[in-house]
Amino acid sequence: MKTISIIGSGNIGSNLARLFASTHNVVLGSRNPEQTRSKFTGITVTDYAQAAKLANIVVLAVPFSEVTAIAATIGSLAGKTLIDVTNPLTPDFMALTVGHTTSAGEAVQATFPQAHVVKAFNTVLAQVLAKAVSGAKSLPSVLIAGNHAGANAEVMQLAKDAGFGAFDTGPISNARYLEPLAELGIQLAYGKGHGGEVGFTFAPVA
Ligand SMILES: NC(=O)c1ccc[n+]([C@@H]2O[C@H](COP(=O)([O-])OP(=O)(O)OC[C@H]3O[C@@H](n4cnc5c(N)ncnc54)[C@H](OP(=O)(O)O)[C@@H]3O)[C@@H](O)[C@H]2O)c1
Repeated sequence: MKTISIIGSGNIGSNLARLFASTHNVVLGSRNPEQTRSKFTGITVTDYAQAAKLANIVVLAVPFSEVTAIAATIGSLAGKTLIDVTNPLTPDFMALTVGHTTSAGEAVQATFPQAHVVKAFNTVLAQVLAKAVSGAKSLPSVLIAGNHAGANAEVMQLAKDAGFGAFDTGPISNARYLEPLAELGIQLAYGKGHGGEVGFTFAPVA
């Protein structure tokens, strides 16, 4: 069984931890492990560096603006799969801070050049993850992008095991399109009032 370490115990990190814990060893990394530990049963909670060290797969579930600082704490992650869930959002969440000619995914790959970065789950809202944890029957697609075929396949399986449809969109540069899609989801959910329990599904026409 693989160990999946999630860096950051916020809305996304906490839900992914609970979701993956049914099928994998999960370690949650937190800046304040003692405080965070009291909120989770059956999940190991430790600091960022120890969580990254224990993992086969690391999930970055932190603000994009914090990635460079956190890289100094967790090291190179050489040879590990690194799932990048971040979206480069403005403080009010209603626009992207980078895009079109680059992406947060590519910046994360540049920060961790020896890791196999896979953009994934960034288009899935935290409320949808919470529904997945509570056994929702119909879940949206997880769209992934990364340069390493093996890591992409590993993350696709992880998403499928958690009940999502999963699609490999190609190299990490396709994060340039996945991050705007995430922002579009935020606009629909909160700008247009559809609420957070919505998501994008990629499917053939029947
Ligand atoms: N919310 C969504 O629906 C959603 C959907 C897709 C993608 N995302 C992306 O996923 C990432 C996490 O989002 P989230 O909604 O989980 O955010 P959040 O609830 O604010 O949690 C972020 C976590 O990151 C850690 N962190 C480290 N340095 C931090 C700092 N300086 N300020 C704040 N938190 C810091 C904290 O965990 P510890 O205290 O445990 O260290 C915090 O709980 C973001 O990049 C976001 O754009 C979010």
